[in-house]
Amino acid sequence: MPDRECLPVGRAYPVIVVLLSPPGSGKGTQCQRLVELLAVPHLSTGAMLRESVRAGSALGQLAAQYIEQGKLVPDHVMVTLVKDRLEAADCDGGCLLDGFPRTVHQAVALDEQLQTSGRSVDLVLELQVPLEELIRRLVERARQEGRQDDSAETVIRRMEVYEAETKPVLEYYRRRGNLASVDGVGTLDAVFSRIREQVSRYARSSADD
Ligand code: AP5
Ligand code: MG
Repeated sequence: MPDRECLPVGRAYPVIVVLLSPPGSGKGTQCQRLVELLAVPHLSTGAMLRESVRAGSALGQLAAQYIEQGKLVPDHVMVTLVKDRLEAADCDGGCLLDGFPRTVHQAVALDEQLQTSGRSVDLVLELQVPLEELIRRLVERARQEGRQDDSAETVIRRMEVYEAETKPVLEYYRRRGNLASVDGVGTLDAVFSRIREQVSRYARSSADD
């Protein structure tokens, strides 16, 4: 059963939530539970790209070159990919964005697209995890699952790219007042409970508007 009791009563949906934090911070893990709470689709751009790579499509062939090196796929490709996905009917009620936007250019493009349908990003969640713990998690995942971009060299590159290109997006949303930072260290339940508290806080504040 969708659990929306912590969302604002009387608020017209959609609810658009972004998870914006470094590789290994737990975005994908927490999204699995957050989609239940919000009852919206989970849009993971990393997962969409990996699926294209598996399918061997033109997008996949292009994306593979960037993913393998820990670099970002060019903005225009990502903006088109997400635009098409957001236009699908299942996103009419909102969505949970995981791994997008990752540059200020993507954030601006997302705003512009949402504006055309009277929507906007409601809440941005940052999972804060120290660098050593991020590396530890990704090294462990490389050992267990062998995700191609979890090699030591690529992980370091992904962290550098996050610092240079994605961190400024946090500032973009902080200025807008819809960034909520959460301690991302602890059990999956503990982290989820902090996320849930931020969603409730957002819901209370928008119900007061
Ligand atoms: P993407 O797939 O988005 O990867 P990422 O951001 O690097 O992050 P991860 O998926 O590795 O980590 P996560 O935060 O989801 O953590 P997870 O839950 O998995 O992107 C991959 C690539 O695609 C990019 O490098 C880029 O090339 C391209 N791309 C994607 N989007 C793009 C965009 N918008 N623009 C341009 N290029 C784009 O957890 C990690 C591990 O930690 C797991 O093993 C998990 O079990 C474990 N874990 C989770 N939570 C905890 C916890 N609380 N305690 C202990 N372990 C935990
Ligand atoms: Mg992920």
